[in-house]
Amino acid sequence: MRLNSMRRKHIVFVVVTVFLSWNAIMYYVLMSRHSKKMIPRDMELDNLDVGIQNQLRRNLALLAKLQGIRNKTEMSLKTNKPERMVLPDRKGDGSDMNKVVLPILMIACDRVTVSRSLDLLIKYRTTKERFPIIVSQDCAHKPTADVIQKYVVSDNIKHIKHPNLTNIELNKKDKKFLGYYKIARHYKWALNQIFLKFNYSAVIIVEDDLDISPDFFEYFSATYPILTSDPSVWCVSAWNDNGKGGMVSDDPELLYRSDFFPGLGWMMERKIWLEIGPKWPVTFWDDWMRHQDQRKERVCIRPEICRTSTFGKKGVSRGLYFDKHLKHIKLNDQFVAFTQKNLSYLMKENYDPWFTHMVYETPEVTVAEVMSGSKKHLKALRVTYTTKEQFKATAKKLGIMDDFKAGVPRVAYRGVVSFVFKGQRIYFAPKPDWQKYDIKWK
Ligand SMILES: *[C@@H]1O[C@H](CO)[C@@H](O)[C@H](O)[C@H]1NC(C)=O
Ligand SMILES: *[C@@H]1O[C@H](CO)[C@@H](O)[C@H](O)[C@H]1NC(C)=O
Ligand SMILES: *[C@@H]1O[C@H](CO)[C@@H](O)[C@H](O)[C@H]1NC(C)=O
Ligand SMILES: *[C@@H]1O[C@H](CO)[C@@H](O)[C@H](O)[C@H]1NC(C)=O
Repeated sequence: MRLNSMRRKHIVFVVVTVFLSWNAIMYYVLMSRHSKKMIPRDMELDNLDVGIQNQLRRNLALLAKLQGIRNKTEMSLKTNKPERMVLPDRKGDGSDMNKVVLPILMIACDRVTVSRSLDLLIKYRTTKERFPIIVSQDCAHKPTADVIQKYVVSDNIKHIKHPNLTNIELNKKDKKFLGYYKIARHYKWALNQIFLKFNYSAVIIVEDDLDISPDFFEYFSATYPILTSDPSVWCVSAWNDNGKGGMVSDDPELLYRSDFFPGLGWMMERKIWLEIGPKWPVTFWDDWMRHQDQRKERVCIRPEICRTSTFGKKGVSRGLYFDKHLKHIKLNDQFVAFTQKNLSYLMKENYDPWFTHMVYETPEVTVAEVMSGSKKHLKALRVTYTTKEQFKATAKKLGIMDDFKAGVPRVAYRGVVSFVFKGQRIYFAPKPDWQKYDIKWK
């Protein structure tokens, strides 16, 4: 598509150039022949003049036609593939957003397979100056520490160790959640190191059981300017909760705004940590972030196709959940040159009118019609939900996540869940007059 229109543009350009040159030559030849005539005869002169003028008119008409084609080609190029993004430098300190250091904080504990994650990070990062890797290890697990230590020597990563290994006193009913308490405590310490000790202006947080896509660093580099310049965006995540194979399109460029905090490979700015760090919870930090008191209607950017996937079946929160969902997640395997694209469509003022228009222009159908394939000829379909029960029942039928956090369905933006069902784009959406989430939906 893009190559085609580039080619067309090129051909049109060449034709126009040749055409103009030919015009100039013709005019010059005719005029010079004309002036060389010693005894110009009036009749001949008039004929020549008319001839030239006719020719010129025809040429101008043709030229206008060609310009029209060129204009159209350029228009379609612009709408299809916006070229480069220019965002205002809101900080006004002249700092180049494309050079800001984005450290990778890897949260580790007692899994020696941390090497699998580290190998990929090292393989895909472009420079260690721009993307320093800091592994923060809890648990004091010696075999894991030994594995990490090898990378300190060979790849110049930093290995920091959570010093507080004291037991956390819990009552009987919470004892089974001890792991979650330890994780929250570790996150708080590690993020304080990143922002208060090392003084970075942003961080990309990963865990020790994540695989990453080849364009992982490219994705975060390109979305960083959105994160800093759109105050309604507080995170960029590599994750799509409905990103199973067969439920996503095969367009790796597609990105969204999401009211749901996805986590699992995510970027945050220092100013957010300074805001939420002091009140960081003792446990279940991710659900705490999803709560309206923290989120404050801010959103994350997320991809259609995940830029991380997890191989850790063993872990505090995994097990059954892993077999049912996580292991089916499709990890993107193509490199998208995101930094060469105009991503400002993701800014709230551009995105909201465009997104709501797109969703509510889509023909509304019933879930039965989606499942029977009777509307297969349409590119996209919209299914409406009005109640929590309806959402859950339909979600189950279509195979998407059916849970809510603080009233927000996974992946949703303005209540809309976008996914692919048997090759067809589905917008699972509330009524067009939707105003806000109902936090009672659980
Ligand atoms: C093509 O665009 C130029 C300006 O970009 C405009 O002056 C011209 O009228 C357009 N031509 C046609 C045929 O649309
Ligand atoms: C270590 O963790 C415990 C439990 O979370 C906490 O009460 C204690 O203050 C921490 N110690 C330090 C030195 O931070
Ligand atoms: C931290 O970085 C900011 C700029 O981002 C700078 O103004 C400040 O002096 C730095 N603080 C320390 C302790 O290095
Ligand atoms: C980038 O896209 C926005 C709309 O999303 C548009 O307003 C802007 O002109 C584009 N910038 C460039 C350089 O194409």
